[in-house]
Amino acid sequence: MTIKQLQSAIQELKQTALSDATPGAQKHQTYLGKKGKFNLLAKKILDLSPVDRKKAGQLLNHFKSELETILAHSDAGESGEWVDLSIPGKKPDVGHLHPISQAIAQISRIFERIGFTRVRYPEVDWDWYVFESLNMPPDHPARDEWETFFVDGPTHPDLGKLVLTTHTSNGQVREMERLHGQPPIRMINIARCYRRQQDATHTQMFHQFEGLVVDKGINIQHLKGTLDHFAREFYGPGTKSRIRPFHFQFTEPSFEVDFSCHICQGTGRVGKNKCRFCKSGWHEVGGAGMVHPNVLKAGGIDPSQYTGFAFGWGVERTYSLKDHLNIDDIRLIYSNQASFLRQF
Ligand code: DAH
Repeated sequence: MTIKQLQSAIQELKQTALSDATPGAQKHQTYLGKKGKFNLLAKKILDLSPVDRKKAGQLLNHFKSELETILAHSDAGESGEWVDLSIPGKKPDVGHLHPISQAIAQISRIFERIGFTRVRYPEVDWDWYVFESLNMPPDHPARDEWETFFVDGPTHPDLGKLVLTTHTSNGQVREMERLHGQPPIRMINIARCYRRQQDATHTQMFHQFEGLVVDKGINIQHLKGTLDHFAREFYGPGTKSRIRPFHFQFTEPSFEVDFSCHICQGTGRVGKNKCRFCKSGWHEVGGAGMVHPNVLKAGGIDPSQYTGFAFGWGVERTYSLKDHLNIDDIRLIYSNQASFLRQF
């Protein structure tokens, strides 16, 4: 064989490949497979003189990439027809943050903008932080309100047993300690909580966010202003907050907090009918109050100089009241059902 003969063999093979309409994978095998036409041709260079072999190698290399391009076109078109390779591919299915992560990010941003600092404290914590420092001595009946999971583990001589945090209020005295009992404090603590409960409106693991503000001269108006601010930012401009007298061991006075219903605008009526979405115009979301002097003392703060307010609510409940959502069973949020989660 001569270089000239090789050149014409290459041309011939190229034409055959171009007009060959066999499906892509098979065609690839025929031309570039181990025993394919290209390799058969390449073997022939052994007949050439060493000088010609070098030239032949270059020709074959070039031809190989030409062949690859030809085959790539036919691969795309299986049947051999021309395919526009510049058409964008199919978009991959892109995920997004879990709805609760989205809600947490939004809640953090709302409070950070008015000077709160986002913190997190342990989810397995000592009895002292979860109950006792919050004005609930051992055996106090108020503890029964929290369906507590106790942890088999060491008992601390001063801090007591280990429990799974039943609420984010464990962050109150921890935050006072972090700041060495030196207000001002503006904390927003968002974390997982755990209780022995499970039904359409409760899951054993859920999230709460806890606000704590301590400084000189803090009063109920600051609490109410903060609640109104949150209501407007989270639910929309028309939303109002309402506080009703209640009892918690760690606040005095204590309140339950409601937000006005977006369906009936707080009136409790839709046309002639009762609003079915809320309790006479309002949704109950959580608790709040002025920090009890004993709690300030437990955190090393002098209650004769400083006052504070606190509030704590469930993230799932607060989020599920948003107007475009209609979540009847919050257990779905943790069900891993992609068809459900994709909606948010
Ligand atoms: N920790 C309470 C609960 O889980 C909620 C709460 C009520 C938090 C009043 C507070 C508060 O900070 O002041 O039920």
